[in-house]
Amino acid sequence: MHLLLLGATGLVGSHVLELALADPRISAVTAPTRRPLPQHARLSAPIVDFDTLPQDLQFWKADAVICALGTTLKVAGSRERFHRIDHDYPVEIARLARAAGAKTFVLNSAKGADPSALFFYSRVKGETEKDVVALGYDRTILVRPGLIDGPRTEPRPAEQMFGTLLRVVKPVLPRSLQANRPETIARVMLDQAFSTVLGVTVVTSDALV
Ligand SMILES: NC(=O)c1ccc[n+]([C@@H]2O[C@H](COP(=O)([O-])OP(=O)(O)OC[C@H]3O[C@@H](n4cnc5c(N)ncnc54)[C@H](OP(=O)(O)O)[C@@H]3O)[C@@H](O)[C@H]2O)c1
Repeated sequence: MHLLLLGATGLVGSHVLELALADPRISAVTAPTRRPLPQHARLSAPIVDFDTLPQDLQFWKADAVICALGTTLKVAGSRERFHRIDHDYPVEIARLARAAGAKTFVLNSAKGADPSALFFYSRVKGETEKDVVALGYDRTILVRPGLIDGPRTEPRPAEQMFGTLLRVVKPVLPRSLQANRPETIARVMLDQAFSTVLGVTVVTSDALV
């Protein structure tokens, strides 16, 4: 399988990359990024300006796509910019990869994703899901983690505090309310890239514990 991976420098995406490069079923990984990745014989990691994505379909050729690209409202700096990164980039890439022949799209979305949600973040995630599904991939897998609890280089105090709290009360929490580890999300996303189930599959946070 030739895998196209978006967000390969991120917390979830870096685990997907590591697993994919160790997986004998995967012959090649293309991971467009805005920062260089360490070299690997089966990895192509072109540096890309995501505001002017290459339109050459050959560039996007792959069997399956895994997208773990996204930001936070704080880092994005405005709602418009957040929408551009968390909605427009994934949907435009999904369109290009679909046109180039990809059959499966695995999207790292979020718990609560819903195009009619009151909460802006959940609404954008829901719009992204809806617009990716509308592209008509043979298989679309929407993976919806809750809080992603893992080591980050940049400080995210609210997430880190909430992560600590969820770890403390984990023994009494139902699976659906527990935080999700990036390596577990990555494993599930990579497995889903090989799924033979047609149509739309939703993976909820309790399946990511
Ligand atoms: N944090 C949570 O608790 C949580 C919960 C549920 C769902 N999610 C969603 O899960 C997904 C993965 O999360 P994560 O924690 O792995 O994210 P992350 O560590 O912040 O990584 C995000 C990835 O997206 C890339 N990216 C961000 N802004 C970009 C831009 N302007 N142009 C190009 N690439 C850009 C990053 O590239 P750089 O390395 O170059 O920045 C990185 O590869 C995201 O969509 C996130 O919204 C997060």
